[in-house]
Amino acid sequence: MTVIQSPPLIEMGNLTQYEYLALNSPLNLSDGHARQELTPSQSRIIEELPSLWADAIKRPVSEVEADARSAFFGLFGQHSYPRGEGRVLACYSSSVAMEIFARSLAGVSDAIGLIHPTFDNIPDILRGVGLRLVPVEEEVLHEGEFDPYLMTQVGAIFVTTPNNPTGRVVSEERLRILAEQCAMYDVVLALDTCFRGFDTRAHYDHYAVLEESGCRWVVIEDTGKLWPTLELKIGWLVSPEHVGLPLEKVYSDILLGVSPLVMSMVRRFAEDAAGGGLAELHDFIAGNRALVRAALADLPEVEFLDPDSRASVERVGIGSRSNLAVWSALSEHNVFALPCQKFFWADSARGEGILRIALARPPAALAIGAATLRTVLSEI
Ligand SMILES: Cc1ncc(COP(=O)(O)O)c(C=O)c1O
Repeated sequence: MTVIQSPPLIEMGNLTQYEYLALNSPLNLSDGHARQELTPSQSRIIEELPSLWADAIKRPVSEVEADARSAFFGLFGQHSYPRGEGRVLACYSSSVAMEIFARSLAGVSDAIGLIHPTFDNIPDILRGVGLRLVPVEEEVLHEGEFDPYLMTQVGAIFVTTPNNPTGRVVSEERLRILAEQCAMYDVVLALDTCFRGFDTRAHYDHYAVLEESGCRWVVIEDTGKLWPTLELKIGWLVSPEHVGLPLEKVYSDILLGVSPLVMSMVRRFAEDAAGGGLAELHDFIAGNRALVRAALADLPEVEFLDPDSRASVERVGIGSRSNLAVWSALSEHNVFALPCQKFFWADSARGEGILRIALARPPAALAIGAATLRTVLSEI
């Protein structure tokens, strides 16, 4: 096993800075990217890449792109996604799509309501374009109503569903209520659905609900969290015609398009998923979640905070132990988990005593990591 010397973190970095430290370790349980082994049928797709390349060269980009879109959106039941020119903008990653959305919004508004907690590169990108962020507690999305005063202050509400790190999914009924409220106040409803693929409860047709509500909306879809494709991925920025944001202009300021080879690969992975690969992936993640829960069972003050989550990450409550103490002790064994303070971007103290474990990993590595975590938690 490679021995990695990690510098002690004096100041709490952002989540991605923690993830960098883990990148070279075989016991990287840190980032939420897919790092499990390819299935046999996915390996065959990788062997097909030269022929996908040859095919992509021959065909018009628009055709290659339309095929990828239809395979991916169809896989998750998103049949009513808009088909018109410029409605689905392909980006190198969902963060690039996010940046384009943020820059577009900053031209027409100075504030946005943002789900709390969520992955911290979302607030960081939004702050980076000068927007003022107003936290919207995750609970409100599932039970309450948006604060009427908030709705008069913001240009958009941004919701991650399924959320990272909690895995909570906004149901169809709740999305309808939230979208109708956004329509009433003429506030854009923006969704990050990067973790959609893991949870069938997020496979109802969101675009039908958004369109019926009459609200202005934006959705960021992502192929990047599902399949172990070595960071070859697409972030799709989707919007209706009358969204009232200069998304296409800002897109054109940043990129021309995503590689047709990547699009063809995404199409093939989506087809494979439709043919049984998706159910296999769901079983795989469920198996890894059970493995982690069994490995940490019955430890004092340890709890699994998201019992219903199907996302490829698992939050572990570690009680009164300090995140940094546990993180440091784990990293001495080259095991890397993610301390959760930064997910609580408006109140980091609420993430103390919580670690996030990545589940999209080879089970053997996950088992070693979880056993090490058990030892560390028993000693601290
Ligand atoms: C919910 C969510 N959205 C967006 C991103 C950014 O993804 P990427 O790094 O592929 O751009 C992440 C990263 O983990 C995420 O968790």
